[in-house]
Amino acid sequence: MKKIVLVGIMISLGLLGACSKGDNNSSFSTEMERMDHSSMNMEGLDESTMDMSHESIAELKSSLGENELTFPKVLKPDQEVNNSISYTIHAQQGTTEIFDGINTETYGYNGNFLGPLIQVEKGMDVTIHLVNDLKEDTTFHWHGLEVPGSVDGGPHTVLKPGESETIQFTVNQDAATLWFHPHPMHETGKQVFKGLAGLLYIVDENSEQLNIPKTYTEDDFPIILQDKTFSVDRQIDYDAVMNADGTTGDTLLINGVVDPKLTVDRKKVRLRVLNGSNMRSYVLHFNNDMEFQQIASDGGFLNKPNTTKEIEVSPSERVEIIVDLTKVKENEVLLVNEDNTTILPIYLRESKENSLKTADILNNLAIPDSVKNKKVTKTIKLAGMGKVVTINGQKFDPDRIDFIQKQNETEVWEIENVNDAMGGMNHPFHIHGTQFQVISINGEAPPSSLSGLKDTISLKPGQKAKIAVKFTQKGIYMFHCHILEHEDNGMMGQIKVN
Ligand code: C2O
Ligand code: CU
Ligand code: CU
Repeated sequence: MKKIVLVGIMISLGLLGACSKGDNNSSFSTEMERMDHSSMNMEGLDESTMDMSHESIAELKSSLGENELTFPKVLKPDQEVNNSISYTIHAQQGTTEIFDGINTETYGYNGNFLGPLIQVEKGMDVTIHLVNDLKEDTTFHWHGLEVPGSVDGGPHTVLKPGESETIQFTVNQDAATLWFHPHPMHETGKQVFKGLAGLLYIVDENSEQLNIPKTYTEDDFPIILQDKTFSVDRQIDYDAVMNADGTTGDTLLINGVVDPKLTVDRKKVRLRVLNGSNMRSYVLHFNNDMEFQQIASDGGFLNKPNTTKEIEVSPSERVEIIVDLTKVKENEVLLVNEDNTTILPIYLRESKENSLKTADILNNLAIPDSVKNKKVTKTIKLAGMGKVVTINGQKFDPDRIDFIQKQNETEVWEIENVNDAMGGMNHPFHIHGTQFQVISINGEAPPSSLSGLKDTISLKPGQKAKIAVKFTQKGIYMFHCHILEHEDNGMMGQIKVN
């Protein structure tokens, strides 16, 4: 994380030419170490030299484990007949007691902070009545859902304060952990930061029948990771803490709870992690370094569990993991970040239950050779930092269609995070209305963690990925960087599927 800041400083000082690009270059790291050990810091630099650089990424505080985690309520349908289900969702504002005795102004769906969990079955016809009770424009976007562009909730489908709309779609994709959030032009970062984000689970025959933990809040837990900075009076002052390269905070919330802990029976549990942060990425592992199994990515189950000791979750990505708590000797284990910051202390209650034997075949995804061998027909170049972020050299224009693709036709897109003179940073690239498959990253087969269906792929500077993209519905869809401030600054384009 520090590297990014230093790259910025070095650019400002014109040092980049002297140490070349790429952060595995040895002269580069020597240079950085020297700077690191010198007395130079952000405050010491003249503001005017900083315009291309990052402000520092807030350092995340460890969870003190003071508050038991809570979980979103499952949203009750207005009606459910045969295969049809309908819901009402209000975007609203109010106050939430995030800190004891203090009312923090927040946004939420059908509540004052965050949203409920919407659970739908594959094949269902879904009707959702959307109501904007905010004092500002908003949209309702279904992240990861393959629905027609007209109901996808991109920046074109604004609801003004007091307006409402009813949308309908059929769920046509496999079981997955998806989510919904606002998408109004230039305001997505702020509205998500204030609390607008909810979960959408799709269940299907496979997910119901698989031998995996699947009882909501008993052994199957949503973990929505978000970092925020609170003002001295414990308010969420987005404008005060906004950073053009992604707003970060020193305080981690899980499902809206500060200093969270989770108390569970000692058995196998499933954690469905959603990174709902504006820009922060997490590399999760356990403090005892134990293995766990990743069973799903953005768009659903992997073919088989990916056994690993750590997993990266970039903004907007989901990973589902199964953790065997019978393997923990003590009564406590910590879920920690890359730098060992505590994300979630897990306290274990004794349980008589035997550890469930979990499935080792989960899905049967494949990329046919005929697709792998296709020529690249869409090229995306992600570039820049701060306000100068672009895709293919351009900023978002709501009146410009950047690409056209045929419904149900698979095309190979090449996404490149351009390692230019600006040094660059990671960009989590997301496409609406599709779950794609990663063919390769820098010419190599993707790691197991990226072998399943994805709607977001995070690329480091210099990385180039080939992905197989198919849209099953028609309409206009956004593709963009999911660092929300990059999106708000125009690092977004649109594709028309016909
Ligand atoms: Cu979470 Cu445009 O998306
Ligand atoms: Cu999306
Ligand atoms: Cu970006």
